[in-house]
Amino acid sequence: MKNLSYYYKKAIKEGFAVGAFNFSNLETLKAICSAAQKTNSPVIIAITEGALNYFGIDFVVAITKTAKKQYSTPIFLHLDHGQSFETCALAVDNGFDSVMIDASSLAFEENIKLTKQVVDYAHKKGVLVEGELGQIKGIEDNLSNEQNHFTAPLQAKEFVEKTRVDSLAVAIGTSHGAYKFNGESKLRFDILSEIEKQLPAFPLVLHGASAVNQEFVNEVNLYGGKLGYPKGVDEKLTNIAVTKHNIVKINIDTDLRIAFTAGVRKSLKDNPENFDARKYLKSGQENVESVVTHKIKNVLNSYSKI
Ligand code: G3H
Ligand code: 13P
Ligand code: ZN
Repeated sequence: MKNLSYYYKKAIKEGFAVGAFNFSNLETLKAICSAAQKTNSPVIIAITEGALNYFGIDFVVAITKTAKKQYSTPIFLHLDHGQSFETCALAVDNGFDSVMIDASSLAFEENIKLTKQVVDYAHKKGVLVEGELGQIKGIEDNLSNEQNHFTAPLQAKEFVEKTRVDSLAVAIGTSHGAYKFNGESKLRFDILSEIEKQLPAFPLVLHGASAVNQEFVNEVNLYGGKLGYPKGVDEKLTNIAVTKHNIVKINIDTDLRIAFTAGVRKSLKDNPENFDARKYLKSGQENVESVVTHKIKNVLNSYSKI
């Protein structure tokens, strides 16, 4: 099978991005894989430390192995926001295709040191490593950043040269979670272009890229939820980052969570007599599949890129 680095190169050449979709239950995992399969798209299934603890690593390894067997589309298992050498090494030892070491909250030199330690370990086993430079506002697992610190282009070059990471997560205005912007969403494409000048044809990653679909938000609120007025990234901007820049991986979690919750809430409300979990979870699963399909076709441009 072609590896992830093959798809990163192809993505830069052909102007698409591989979707990195977070999962923390079986229904979401199946929905992601099924959407990728039906659209002939490569896909990254991403798991955070929090989700890893929720599942237990042995379950994660077993179900993702099964998923890779069951679906013929390229599926890559990725550790999202690994926060220590130990967790990254555990993922590497358990056959993950790729790990992210997120040492972005550390001082520059410390970030380089820890990231390089992970790279040295992972590369020996053929596993790719994503680093992060700059900080992305919002909740990154248990780390909370109040402010955006945009990635400094010159530092990005030095960081990549010293660590030898395979891809770099950049901070250009996105943030994690559902409440990203007060007014219009804005991304710093000027900074992105400067980074690309320093690192020509290098795979870059955009976190915090959920769009926060208003229809699903309304549905959650209509069926008893309380999401207030969240706001995500305009999908047109994400599409520019993918097609006109070197963003080869787009991370999406919040959009799937909201879609799943909307489906479950609606099903429970519409079928008050039901207590079969399969039925309401299936509604969540269907919503997630429709979101992933939409992203692949209309935002990531990864349709038919296997
Ligand atoms: O950036 C990652 C996620 O959106 C946070 O997920 O709650 O599983 O850590 P988590
Ligand atoms: P969202 O919260 O925008 O979905 O971002 C998810 C993410 O970056 C996971 O690493
Ligand atoms: Zn992230």
